[in-house]
Amino acid sequence: MFPLDQWYVAAFAWELTDKPLARTLLNQPVVLFRAGGQAAALADRCCHRHAPLSCGTVETPGIRCGYHGLLFNATGECVEIPGQANIPKTACVRAYPVEERNHIVWIWMGNSLPTRPAPEHPWHDDPAYAFKGDVYHYKAPYQLIHDNLLDLSHLGYVHVKTIGGNAKIHVNAEMAVTKGPDWVKVVRHMKDSQPPPTYLEAWPFEGRIDRWQEIEFKVTYFLIWTGGMDAGSGDLADPARPGFHMRGFHGITPETETTSFYFWTISSNRNPARPDMVETIHKASAFTFDEDRTIIEAQHANMERFGEAPMVGILVDAAPNRARKIVERLTES
Ligand code: FES
Ligand SMILES: [Fe+2]
Repeated sequence: MFPLDQWYVAAFAWELTDKPLARTLLNQPVVLFRAGGQAAALADRCCHRHAPLSCGTVETPGIRCGYHGLLFNATGECVEIPGQANIPKTACVRAYPVEERNHIVWIWMGNSLPTRPAPEHPWHDDPAYAFKGDVYHYKAPYQLIHDNLLDLSHLGYVHVKTIGGNAKIHVNAEMAVTKGPDWVKVVRHMKDSQPPPTYLEAWPFEGRIDRWQEIEFKVTYFLIWTGGMDAGSGDLADPARPGFHMRGFHGITPETETTSFYFWTISSNRNPARPDMVETIHKASAFTFDEDRTIIEAQHANMERFGEAPMVGILVDAAPNRARKIVERLTES
């Protein structure tokens, strides 16, 4: 049901504290914790009597089961059985490869070892940027979130109050879709448009602006680079364009076939005239993503209510359809 040989977001670094974190990822119950400061993930089932390890405690060198006290290290090996010197070789639980990079904890869910390092997201550690984010739980399948993020024509309808603005400018925006074997990229330019409410709160724009939206689908996450500059002040096609830049990170990890986790952050370049812009952007983004969740969960509930029925395709489905083809191929392989 899911592409397995992939790095998925399991958590943000700040979620791993001195307590175990239980999370079902791709139908697999996992316990996340820190062993000697390093992020680790084990199957959330003790090999003794199958109690959830997430009910235990984080201890050196790993996690102790809260039922009879077996202690496991980060590789899933049992290193202590209270009251017993001999530890059977079979006393172990599955360990998942984990990499923590730029405040993101990635997990490899495949049955084979990782074939590449986990992705980087340098803006989380770039002093020119500040970021904040959150984890949302969705009562909807992950691919409905993919569809939503790849089709920004919904901005003018779902997000009128925040990042949207006039629906017509979105529907008529210049758009280019490119693709590779495991990515899809949508670039949209909206010249000489009215800045939407969130942009005005976050950045001291003078008047009308030239806006860009660059959305990259990378199977388990999206990079969404949006922003705007005073109209005519730079070249929209130049990545070094001036103005207000928002670098969105969106990790979409299935929990089950019908539920998902949505890990998001927005990194924005700093403007001394708006010292609290990170908070402003976070609040507006949280509100925006709530709007998405509301419509997507309603859509999913309705799909369940009506059952299988053909859908009518329209032009804005081009990029979402490409992403679906990639997921289909990776799920089969
Ligand atoms: S169930 Fe874990 S130690 Fe007994
Ligand atoms: Fe949206």
